Amino acid sequence: MTELIIALDVPSELDALRLLDRIPDARWVKVGSVLMTREGPSLLHELHSRGLKVFLDLKWHDIPNTVAGAVSAAREIGVAMATVHTLGGPAMMQAAAEAAGPELGLVGVTVLTSHSDTELSATLGRPSVVVLDEVARLARSATAAGLRGVVCSAHEAATVRQALGPDAWIVVPGIRRAGDATGDQVRVATPASAVAAGASHLVVGRPILSAADPASVFEEMAGATA
Ligand code: C5P
Repeated sequence: MTELIIALDVPSELDALRLLDRIPDARWVKVGSVLMTREGPSLLHELHSRGLKVFLDLKWHDIPNTVAGAVSAAREIGVAMATVHTLGGPAMMQAAAEAAGPELGLVGVTVLTSHSDTELSATLGRPSVVVLDEVARLARSATAAGLRGVVCSAHEAATVRQALGPDAWIVVPGIRRAGDATGDQVRVATPASAVAAGASHLVVGRPILSAADPASVFEEMAGATA
């Protein structure tokens, strides 16, 4: 079964808890840099006290010793999943994986789902960069370094699943139903097509956060992952 993770991209703890009060079936939530910077670890404790699994998405990218320290802190808090950037390199990812131990699932961000081939090419300063090739290369380096899996878009998920085998976590953001606004995401997919491509976890933000009835969008998407 594919897990559905609600991205808590809201301004405050109060907003996050009010939203979760309306979605009683939520099992996983993602806390990113905005909410974490504003509210701190007490929010994570509150989410745990509600029985939720926490995905701490701070996309660490620093020297190995610093990233390992951040991962250890997340492990002590009890988060279930956290992100590092694969572009931090093998030594950084190895140090992070050792600090995570077996209980914290560490996943590597490959290429942000807001990037197209052209934008990635401009970012790296190389002509003709193909996102799919970069994602597959970075995914292999992530699991070789000991990470539990990767974050990628649904467009690369089938290639990554083939490269990493059945056990790796493949976490897919950029999930939209037909007709949903894409916002700043470029590589989007429906829940059903992301699951079919091999996603183990779907991350959904705005389609749920901006809905008049968040629970019904959550249930509709959860139905597509069962
Ligand atoms: O609102 P939306 O559904 O686009 O939210 C997607 C979430 O997934 C955001 O919290 C974003 O930070 C996160 N994310 C992403 N692309 C990645 C990794 C994380 O969009 N590669």
